[in-house]
Amino acid sequence: MELARNLFLVLHLLGMASIIGGFLVQTRSERKVVQPAMLHGALTALVTGLLLTGLLEMGDGDVNHTKIGVKLVVVLVVTALAWRRRRAESISTGEWAAIGGLTILNVVLAVFW
Ligand code: HEM
Repeated sequence: MELARNLFLVLHLLGMASIIGGFLVQTRSERKVVQPAMLHGALTALVTGLLLTGLLEMGDGDVNHTKIGVKLVVVLVVTALAWRRRRAESISTGEWAAIGGLTILNVVLAVFW
């Protein structure tokens, strides 16, 4: 159980790193796109987040459902944005900032809440 939790957490963090990585490398690019790593990272964070929540529910730990719910909504918005624009030649700076900013928001929520 502990091993599964740690494995899912590693994958969860790699998912987050993929989104943030794809976001940050484009900071200075004039033409911003949804890099495959961003979409795959969002899907990875979503799936592993649900798996981690399942493991927490099965354990005896406290599960903060409000926090999980908010993180879920945030990642769904990120995933929807990335999915919708995955083949676009370019995306607006606002869309790019929303994907990165909302992901950073989820990191802040995970750590501070
Ligand atoms: C882009 C989206 C996401 C990011 C950047 C993110 C970020 C993080 C980070 C940095 C942690 C480790 C810190 C901590 O444990 O408090 C974490 C843990 C966790 N995340 Fe996420 N998360 C995301 C999406 C989700 C979603 C959608 C869910 C659930 C539906 C979720 C559920 C969890 C759970 C349950 C843990 C804690 C595991 C534990 O303590 O055993 N996350 N997340």
